[in-house]
Amino acid sequence: MIKIINIELSNASKNEINSWLKKFPSEHKRSAIMPALTIVQKENGGALTRELISAVAAYLAVAEAFVYEVATFYDMYTLDKVGKYNIAVCTNVSCLICGCNKIVTYLKHKFGIEFGEITADGKFMLTEAQCLGACDGAPAIQINSKCYKSLTLEELDIILEGLE
Ligand code: FES
Repeated sequence: MIKIINIELSNASKNEINSWLKKFPSEHKRSAIMPALTIVQKENGGALTRELISAVAAYLAVAEAFVYEVATFYDMYTLDKVGKYNIAVCTNVSCLICGCNKIVTYLKHKFGIEFGEITADGKFMLTEAQCLGACDGAPAIQINSKCYKSLTLEELDIILEGLE
């Protein structure tokens, strides 16, 4: 049995979530689940925990299952250990047609890791994404919360140099 420790969201997170809550009718706090998860994940260094999911549910006064199902459905949320920079490469149809395989091969070779792995220094993680909602700019990748469209290998190198 998993023991969930109750924690409270930080004041900074609460303030940001409150700004989102103002955008929805008070009886629809559930609408703020996605922005709330984005906020707490970012504050937690890029990953969620069961405790944070519980805390978001408590703060929004919604069932924890609602928050958990959102957190585990969308690619932009994770409960797994992450690197400092998480590089998600879309390999779905549009990106496949537009040459994402070159990007995948390049990144795997450059870092010596496969999808789902983190470099030994904890800096880079590669993940395979199933559409980043950027099909008009395929091939697309996302590094942490920033999306890069119509990416060439030359542009990718410049982006990575900026991170190293
Ligand atoms: Fe790659 Fe949609 S298929 S962003």
